[in-house]
Amino acid sequence: TKIAVLVSGGGTNLQALIDAENSGLLKSGEIVLVASNNPNAFALQRAEDNGIKAVVMSSEEALLQVFREEGIELVVLAGFLKILSPAFISAYEDRIINIHPSLIPSFCGKGCYGLHVHEKALEYGVKVTGATVHYVNEIPDGGQIIAQKAVEILEGDTPETLQRRVMEQAEWVLLPKAVEEISEKLARGER
Ligand code: GRF
Repeated sequence: TKIAVLVSGGGTNLQALIDAENSGLLKSGEIVLVASNNPNAFALQRAEDNGIKAVVMSSEEALLQVFREEGIELVVLAGFLKILSPAFISAYEDRIINIHPSLIPSFCGKGCYGLHVHEKALEYGVKVTGATVHYVNEIPDGGQIIAQKAVEILEGDTPETLQRRVMEQAEWVLLPKAVEEISEKLARGER
C-alpha cells in the first residue's frame, strides 16, 4: 500500500512510521511521499534523510495531483494542523487517518491540538489521557475511531511532560500498528 504522510511540525510521528518500516513492523505499506503545509517543518528533513519524496503543499488541488502521480492509497495525518476541505476528504473516502493526542471524544475538535490538548486535560484534572487514531471525515476529529491507548497523568505533570509521555507511550506505538493493519487490509483489497 502506497502511503502519503501529511505533516506540519517536528515529525516525530512520521519518524515512528519510518522506524516501523525499517524494523519490519510496517511491512504492508510503503511511505512514498511526505507533504507539509509548513516549509520549515523538520519533518521534511526527516523524509529527505530517509530518501522519501518530500513536498511543500501549495494547494489541495496540487497535492491531489501529486497523490495521483504517486498512486497514493492511504493518507496519514501525523501532527498535521491544517483542516482539509470536504472535497479533499471525499477524494480519499475512508482512506485518510489521523492521530490525535487525547482519548476522543475528550479534548478534541476545532482548535484543539498539540499542547492545548494537554493544557485542557491538566486544567480539567483528568487522571488518564492518551491518543486516538481515527478516520478523517469533515468533522474535525469526528471520524470512526480505529484505536486508542491510555496514558496516566502524574503528579506535577506540565503540558510538556504530558505531551512527551503521550507521544512516547501512545502515539508512536499506536500509529505504526494502525497503519500496518490498514495497509494490510488495503493490500488484500479489503475495505
Ligand atoms: C504533537 O503535539 C503530537 O501530540 C501531535 O502533533 C504534534 C506534533 O507531532 N500528534 P509530530 O512530532 O510533528 O509528529
